[in-house]
Parts: sequence; C-alpha cells; structure tokens
Amino acid sequence: MGSVPVKGRRIWVTGASTGIGRAVALELARRGAVVVASARNERALNEMAEACGADRVFALPLDVTDRRATLQAADEIRRKLKGLDVAFLNAGICEYVDVSKFDSAVFERTMQVNFLSMVYGIEAILPLLRASDNAQLIGMSSTVAYRGLPRAEAYGASKAAIKHLFESLQIDLKREGISVSVVCPGFVRTPLTDRNDFPMPFRVEAEEAAERIVDGIEAGSPEIHFPKRFSIPFKLLALLPNRLYAAICSHMVKPR
Ligand SMILES: NC(=O)c1ccc[n+]([C@@H]2O[C@H](COP(=O)([O-])OP(=O)(O)OC[C@H]3O[C@@H](n4cnc5c(N)ncnc54)[C@H](OP(=O)(O)O)[C@@H]3O)[C@@H](O)[C@H]2O)c1
Repeated sequence: MGSVPVKGRRIWVTGASTGIGRAVALELARRGAVVVASARNERALNEMAEACGADRVFALPLDVTDRRATLQAADEIRRKLKGLDVAFLNAGICEYVDVSKFDSAVFERTMQVNFLSMVYGIEAILPLLRASDNAQLIGMSSTVAYRGLPRAEAYGASKAAIKHLFESLQIDLKREGISVSVVCPGFVRTPLTDRNDFPMPFRVEAEEAAERIVDGIEAGSPEIHFPKRFSIPFKLLALLPNRLYAAICSHMVKPR
C-alpha cells in the first residue's frame, strides 16, 4: 500500500477521551477523516464530537476490556458508517511494579486493558476491515517494548506483547491487503505521564505525537516511532549485551 491520505476515510480510535488518542482523533478530523471516538468517558467524547461536528467525530463510548461490548461497538460502526477503513487501537494504562510488594493484580489489570482489549478490538473489527479497499490496523505499543526497563515488568510486558501481536499480523494480514502498523512513542505529555516521578528525556506534546502518528498512518509505515532523538538511541541501547544494559539501566532506579 502506498501513501493514502486520511481524508474521507472512516477511522476508529480507542482511548480517545484524553492524551494521545484525543489528539490523534482531533488531528484526523482536521485532515478530513470521519472519526469514531471510543473511551469510557462519554462526556469527553461528546464534547469533542460537538466541537468538531457530529459528521466528523462520532462518539462511541466503550470499555475496551468488555469483549461483548466491543463486538456490539463494531456492529454500531457498521450500522452508522456502513464500514470502517482504519482502526487505531490505542487505549491503555500504565502501572509500575514494586518488586518488594510483587502483586499479580497489577499484571492482570495491565494485560487486560492494554493487551487483551486489543485482541477483542481486532476480533470485532477485522470483518469490517476486510470489506475495505484500503484497510489499516494500528496498535499502540511503546519504546519500552524494545527492552525491559526498571519497574516496567507489567507495562513493558504488555507493550512487548502488543508489538509482537502486530508484527505477526503484519505478515498474516498482508495477503488480505490489510496494512498493519505498530506505534512506539517515547515520552508524550499526557495524564498518563504527568504521574511519573522520574526524568522523561525528550518528552513531546500530545499534538506533536498525533502529527507523527497520522503522518505514519498516511504513509502506511509498519513501525511509527518518535521522537527519533529518543527512539533511535534506545533501539541501539537495546542491542547491548545483558550485563552492560542492566548496569546502565540500574542507574535509572532511585536507591531504596
Ligand atoms: N504518554 C506516553 O508517553 C506514552 C508513551 C508510549 C505509549 N503510550 C501509550 O499510548 C496510549 C495512550 O496513552 P496516553 O499517554 O494518551 O494516556 P491517557 O491520557 O491516560 O489516555 C488513556 C486513554 O485510554 C482510555 N482507557 C483506559 N482504560 C480504558 C478502558 N478500560 N476502556 C476504554 N478506554 C480506556 C482512557 O479513556 P477513559 O478513561 O475515558 O476510558 C484514555 O482515553 C496508551 O496505550 C499508552 O500506553 C503512551
């Protein structure tokens, strides 16, 4: 698939009530796409639909951890828009692990919201994408997927699982003409990172992230990673042998 502008295409964005998802939904609407915006916060979605015009942004409230509700959301998209061209599965949470109080509940929550929700989303939306001439499926991972980082035992594992899932889909859906991309951002200023208590080098604004992501969608890039001044050095760091990598990363953790 060559470069395809988003103008006029029907695009589903999950996690669209705040942060990167909201900024991407707004950028898509600005470039002329028809956006289906999902998240749990119905009020935030309705406000965005009102601001952009109901013909531009269609609010579809959804808890992405609910498989049945996700299948119903796909039916609603079929009824309202008669199909779908692009799905950007972006909803996610971030919880850090304290190994001194190792708690499996953090892993269950993280895998449910970040990873399994994507599996439900793909199951629900694939029939619609198969009927589109220019279908694209995009999943939100993170640069943390490149290699393990301190306190990221749950979040990093969920993002690595997403990256793996979408890389496999890239191969398996190619023969059906469905283009698949994975998004690996560095730090982006959103409510999610506002809670972080550590330095976030090269953190970019959500609007800049949205531009990079929508450019990548239009270009059909298999991996959309940014800002390059962070993601490329991190890719190189991830190639280091285990002992050297662990020694460098141990400096990122505050001493107890
Ligand atoms: N910010 C970064 O630096 C960064 C870097 C790499 C990757 N990411 C990834 O980017 C994605 C968006 O993160 P963000 O930084 O924009 O965070 P955010 O502002 O907290 O946004 C998270 C979005 O996910 C939605 N969400 C969470 N749980 C949900 C659920 N059960 N059902 C439906 N929607 C749900 C939230 O909406 P409701 O609460 O209204 O449901 C919200 O719209 C996440 O997958 C995150 O891991 C972020």
